[in-house]
Amino acid sequence: MITNRTLTMLKPDAVEKGHVGAILDKITASGFRIVALKLTQMTVADAERFYEIHKERPFFNDLVTFMTRGPIVAAVLEKENAVEDFRTLIGATNPQEAAEGTIRKMFADSIEENAIHGSDSDENAAIEAAFHFAGREMF
Ligand code: RTP
Ligand code: MG
Repeated sequence: MITNRTLTMLKPDAVEKGHVGAILDKITASGFRIVALKLTQMTVADAERFYEIHKERPFFNDLVTFMTRGPIVAAVLEKENAVEDFRTLIGATNPQEAAEGTIRKMFADSIEENAIHGSDSDENAAIEAAFHFAGREMF
C-alpha cells in the first residue's frame, strides 16, 4: 500500500463560492504534490457509499444532500506523512474550532458545510483514491 498519499474533496460549498484556486494554492504551497485531480459530482448512491461509516448518524441524510448538490473537486495528494499532515492543514471538523490558518478556518462556514474532506487513515486514503480515480488518472 502507498502510505504517503491522501484523498481530498473540495466540497460543493467551496466550489460554489469560487474557492477552488485559493484552496489548491494553499495545498501545494504546504508541500503536497497533486497526483490526481478532477471536477466531478457524486450521485446519492456515491455519497451514501463514500460516507457509509456515518449512515446511523443523525446528520447522514443532510450530509448526502449537501455532498451531491453540486460539483466537487476530488484530488489525490502526496507528501511524507500525508494523511496526518493534511488533517492538520484542513483543521477541525467544526470551522469555529479550527486553528487559525487552516483551510476550514479560512474557507468554511459551518460544521456541515466545511469546505473540504481529508482521509482519516492510510487504509481509507487508498480506498477513497480508488473510489474517485482509475489507475491511469493517478500520476
Ligand atoms: P471529512 O470526513 O469530510 O473529512 O470530515 P471529518 O472527518 O472532519 O468529520 P466526520 O466526522 O468524518 O464527518 C463527515 C462530515 O459530515 C458532516 N458533519 N455534519 N451536522 C453535524 O453535526 C455534522 N457532523 C459532521 C461534515 O461535512 C463532516 O465533514
Ligand atoms: Mg471523516
